[in-house]
Amino acid sequence: MPKRVRVELGDRSYRILIGGGLLSRAGALCRDAGLGGAALVVTDRNVARRYAGPVRAALEGAGCRVSMAVVPAGESSKCGARLFELYDRALDAGLDRKSFVVALGGGVVGDLAGYLAASYLRGIAFVQIPTSLLAMVDSSVGGKTGIDLPRGKNLVGAFHQPALVLADTDTLSTLPRREYAAGLAEVVKYGVIRDAALFRLLERRAADVLACDRALMDRVIARCCEIKAEVVGADEREGGVRAILNFGHTLGHALENAAGYEGLLHGEAVAAGMGYAGWLSMRLCGLPEGDLARLAALLRAFGLPDSARGLRATWLGLVRAMALDKKASGRIPRFVLADRIGHARHGVEATPALMKEAWDVCRQ
Ligand SMILES: NC(=O)c1ccc[n+]([C@@H]2O[C@H](COP(=O)([O-])OP(=O)(O)OC[C@H]3O[C@@H](n4cnc5c(N)ncnc54)[C@H](O)[C@@H]3O)[C@@H](O)[C@H]2O)c1
Repeated sequence: MPKRVRVELGDRSYRILIGGGLLSRAGALCRDAGLGGAALVVTDRNVARRYAGPVRAALEGAGCRVSMAVVPAGESSKCGARLFELYDRALDAGLDRKSFVVALGGGVVGDLAGYLAASYLRGIAFVQIPTSLLAMVDSSVGGKTGIDLPRGKNLVGAFHQPALVLADTDTLSTLPRREYAAGLAEVVKYGVIRDAALFRLLERRAADVLACDRALMDRVIARCCEIKAEVVGADEREGGVRAILNFGHTLGHALENAAGYEGLLHGEAVAAGMGYAGWLSMRLCGLPEGDLARLAALLRAFGLPDSARGLRATWLGLVRAMALDKKASGRIPRFVLADRIGHARHGVEATPALMKEAWDVCRQ
């Protein structure tokens, strides 16, 4: 039986199912969620090769008229040109306001197909079928959709909640190891911001987590989805508490920006950013030194950076990027910091001198 998590958002509430064998049940599960008619499945080439067939068969088996749109893999597909191609595909496929979009893939496909669904005919339903660990624990839940512009990431988008999320954890068996490890950075984040027991479980069973022990990971992914669902249910549009999901992301995004979004995965940048935010947490929020050491050790156990050592970046460039961060206020970065493992607060300001000191520590 799959694990179930519900995102409570009034008439936009939806279910997340987590477990094996869900792709082949996708048609019946969509029907149960009230979806039918024409469906456009958006996926990328890597994922299509393995999983487009079973998803198409499952949807057709439930009576849907299925069309496929396959985009190249990678962040560069999250762009206006691909989006406009998808509008054409949707029109060619005869999608109307009762039709739905299926996002089958990682966060790139989820964000792109989600924004297609948010904007086509002023919004139609969509289903998330995340196949990367990052998408399962983070991007498929919460309704943030969007594309990048040449001048920056995620600059165009909309909040548009999916009607259903199906995290088929069988698909993790083909996810490249480096992508899997990058997803673990977000898993660690949930432990730090909200759940000390989850953090201890990750520590105790680090080897099993890294080896993707399926029973354990179904449980871990479900717990991460529960935390995200709670936070999103309390603050859908990030007016307040939702910001805690950005622990490690202030410097993380700036590091990705400095790397030109190449060679450094989002999760790896977030891991380094958590090392930085951890140090600031110690100085500003009383995070015990022992907790900071545990965070660093867990990140290393997952093969992730615990600092920015060796990463390409200049302090000036990072400061500029952090000033443009969406949590910044009047160009002053605001940090999400932890006062202990399991509890975080958002909106914390650090002096420029302390930010620089943290950077000097973080890149050694
Ligand atoms: N909407 C949100 O709330 C949110 C949150 C976090 C990140 N994001 C976005 O998510 C994106 C990153 O997502 P990602 O890390 O999943 O990257 P991704 O979608 O590029 O997927 C990573 C790689 O893994 C491949 N892949 C995915 N699933 C696979 C599988 N089961 N087997 C084999 N290969 C597989 C993909 O083809 C790709 O090459 C970024 O664009 C980021 O901005 C969005």
